[in-house]
Amino acid sequence: MLVAMATDIIGMPRAGPDASWLSRRLQTNRLEYLDRDDVDELKHKVVTALDRGGRRPRFGTYEKHAQLALAEVPDVPAPRILEIGSGLGGLSRKLLELHPTAEVTVTDVDPGFVADIAAGDLGSHPRATVRVMDATAIDTQDGHYDLAVFALSLHHLAPPLAAQVFSEGTRAARKLLIIDVRRPSIPLHLAMLAAVLPFTRVPVVHDAVISGLRAYSPSALRALAHHADPAITVEFRTRRMGPTVMLASRN
Ligand SMILES: C[S@@+](CC[C@H](N)C(=O)[O-])C[C@H]1O[C@@H](n2cnc3c(N)ncnc32)[C@H](O)[C@@H]1O
Repeated sequence: MLVAMATDIIGMPRAGPDASWLSRRLQTNRLEYLDRDDVDELKHKVVTALDRGGRRPRFGTYEKHAQLALAEVPDVPAPRILEIGSGLGGLSRKLLELHPTAEVTVTDVDPGFVADIAAGDLGSHPRATVRVMDATAIDTQDGHYDLAVFALSLHHLAPPLAAQVFSEGTRAARKLLIIDVRRPSIPLHLAMLAAVLPFTRVPVVHDAVISGLRAYSPSALRALAHHADPAITVEFRTRRMGPTVMLASRN
């Protein structure tokens, strides 16, 4: 039985266990530049472009995602927040800016990104700790954090590892907030691919196309959480426009 469940999650389509024939084809095993260790320059271009986009006034992701995260800890006077998959740390910087007493642990699996963060303002911020950390093996005791947040990153992981993030995130923190690329409907996805495929020589477009194909649907996210532990409950906070937003916790 356990072996059957493991096989199910390994082969689960990104569009979920009941995905249609066509949506099963709208996915890829191809890696983003961000996932590769052999393309340093391209990887740097992508993470820098994402960081620029994240910082943009009004339309940037960092402030929006920080507000979503802080809405999960309204009654905690000095919330302990763990950011996993922080890239260059822009979301954590916003959390510290918007909340005067929050303590933030800023982490990513990529030692180069973490070194860049540590060398900047967050490296000496009195309420920030900067560390290398793998979201699938969080190095802390149970319930240490009030909130763990994983933004625009879950789609980088294959289903067994993504399920492990649910398991680890809800163990290390009371709440796990997943914000990720929204999987488009099939017609929209086909139209988007037709529009952007000619531009995949641009590194950030290359990664964005793969992100869309690897994004998990809501039913896939439910299946991952259930596979991690049936005791994990999930709630979606996704708005009409914008990314998939999901809160996971254990009762
Ligand atoms: C698209 S970037 C998102 C960066 C940032 N969270 C943001 O909102 O802009 C994805 C990040 O996930 C990180 N990542 C991938 N796998 C990871 C893992 N197993 N544990 C922690 N971080 C991971 C990558 O190194 C990268 O920095």
